[in-house]
Amino acid sequence: MHIVVTGAAGFVGSHMCDRLLAEGHSVLALDNLLTGKRRNLAHLAAEPRFQFIEQDITKPFSVEGPVDAVMNMASPASPKDYLEYPIETLEVGSFGTRHMLELARIKGARFLLSSTSECYGDPAVHPQVETYWGNVNPVGPRSCYDESKRFAEALTMAFHRKFGLATNIARIFNTYGPRMKLDDGRVVPAFVDQALRGEPMTIFGDGSQTRSFCYVDDLVDGMYRLLLSDERYPVNLGNPCEMTILEFAEHIRRMTGSRSPLVFQPLPEDDPKIRRPDISRARALLGWEPRVSLEEGLDRTLAYFQTDADAAV
Ligand SMILES: NC(=O)c1ccc[n+]([C@@H]2O[C@H](COP(=O)([O-])OP(=O)(O)OC[C@H]3O[C@@H](n4cnc5c(N)ncnc54)[C@H](O)[C@@H]3O)[C@@H](O)[C@H]2O)c1
Repeated sequence: MHIVVTGAAGFVGSHMCDRLLAEGHSVLALDNLLTGKRRNLAHLAAEPRFQFIEQDITKPFSVEGPVDAVMNMASPASPKDYLEYPIETLEVGSFGTRHMLELARIKGARFLLSSTSECYGDPAVHPQVETYWGNVNPVGPRSCYDESKRFAEALTMAFHRKFGLATNIARIFNTYGPRMKLDDGRVVPAFVDQALRGEPMTIFGDGSQTRSFCYVDDLVDGMYRLLLSDERYPVNLGNPCEMTILEFAEHIRRMTGSRSPLVFQPLPEDDPKIRRPDISRARALLGWEPRVSLEEGLDRTLAYFQTDADAAV
């Protein structure tokens, strides 16, 4: 297939390019480098089936030749990034998604949206099932991301209903792995960075809030299976193994052999207290579940941060 990947220079997008090329597809990678980095794709420079174009997808854009699928992954994704770029985040979810849906429609291509567990907000239903409509503060600081993705989901369903476009929506839960930025503010790189430096590890709130962490290869596998499926409604993709932030910090301390003390800071506004995907639909529809254990995934991630410290910043 000829596949367009937006957000390709980002953390997940770059791994998706690797997987698609390994499956024999050709990839047109688009990214405006707002939060991504060229060097995440540098290893693909000599690959004849790969092309990178620096392009802001909120601007109109046409592609020559056939396109069989569009994987729309462009968006700031870490709280630090979307709080710094709130307008850009809303624009990429709205105008950017619109442009990529139009591209898919014109080319008769399939379309996959990478959405997020943030659509559930601070959830009142646990674990989160796809039929839960969420608990999002529409005017809070995080709303630029949550509402951008909720709008993108609504737009995707509208294109499916109005034009019969073959669409998929992946609701992605916390994912980690190599090529994350050490300073992007998400909990995995933040803890790893602090632990490796022997600096205090920052816990927001009392650390009793829960998260579940999915290794990037597992996520990419789930997204690829979803792209090949006929499922039109959202599918959760994430690791259902849940732990408190405090437990997670202890885990990183053990793995790195760090003696970093823990310091506690106030919980950010609208921070979700609990987060765990119900992946029954992904299991039933895609035959998918995460395979990489937290130990194995963290080992690979730590190795990246330790050997490739320049790339991580
Ligand atoms: N990593 C996670 O845990 C996670 C969780 C939920 C959802 N997601 C979703 O997965 C996707 C990828 O996330 P990530 O973690 O790789 O983030 P990332 O910031 O590493 O990658 C996003 C990429 O999108 C690009 N981008 C942003 N605005 C753009 C625009 N207007 N035009 C072109 N490119 C643009 C950025 O430059 C960056 O390379 C995002 O859509 C995100 O919302 C990720």
